[in-house]
Amino acid sequence: MSDLHTARHRLMNARRIAVLTGAGISKPSGIPTFRDAAGLWQDFDLEEYATPSAYARNPQKVWEWYAWRYKNVLQAQPNPAHALLVELEHSLGEGFLLVTQNVDGLHRRAGSQRVVNLHGDITRGRCERCGQRFPLPAPQDFTPPPPCPACGAPGRPDVVWFGELLPEGAFERALEAFTACEVALVIGTSGEVEPAASLGRLARHSGAYLIEINPEATPLSPLADCSLRMGAVEGLQALMARPPG
Ligand code: APR
Repeated sequence: MSDLHTARHRLMNARRIAVLTGAGISKPSGIPTFRDAAGLWQDFDLEEYATPSAYARNPQKVWEWYAWRYKNVLQAQPNPAHALLVELEHSLGEGFLLVTQNVDGLHRRAGSQRVVNLHGDITRGRCERCGQRFPLPAPQDFTPPPPCPACGAPGRPDVVWFGELLPEGAFERALEAFTACEVALVIGTSGEVEPAASLGRLARHSGAYLIEINPEATPLSPLADCSLRMGAVEGLQALMARPPG
């Protein structure tokens, strides 16, 4: 059988599937990626917006950038790729885990429930003093920094900046799923950021069948049993034998 047919067969017959998504899956929803040609890091210096020192230096500037992204995210809609992953979750239940690097919340808005957000959630704030997490006010009512609803101290974006630790237990849960799965599906990530970038390789080394969906080759591509040079929507439609469009 060809790669795609084998991959389709393995995916449809697997009882345990682990999925890792990156910014590429949200690009069809109009949310920019980071390292693509028109990615955010082409226009914004990540050292100025996505590090603890950037925030310490100029919290207002960092908040304004996140507030801008937050408003864009709320205007975006989940796309058919997000919806197909919800279908996959419904067919597998406990045997399915979706691990995302994305902070846009589109997987949850599409209906995914078994989700690990490795890098946090741009629609939430986190108190600098007591650590309380809280939803951000609606964009029209929102002037950063948001006060913590529990103690009144200023909140920061509830996202993981470069050099920061992932949310407690998040990577452990992801690693457990990727080293126990029969099929690992890696969609729309350049594989540039650790520890997320290791999950596909670790799954492969644990005996999983590894499928990648990305219009570009990545460091993971040579390891993949099937690397589909397609967008997330087309790739999932092909894998799940759904009509294109
Ligand atoms: N479908 C699938 N993949 C796509 C599509 C598409 N329609 N369009 C582009 N891509 C691919 C690109 O080829 C690229 O490999 O999506 C990938 C996006 O890579 P990045 O912009 O590096 O995003 P990501 O891998 O998610 O970045 C990881 O880095 O900046 C940090 O915290 C941020 O979570 C982010 C992390």
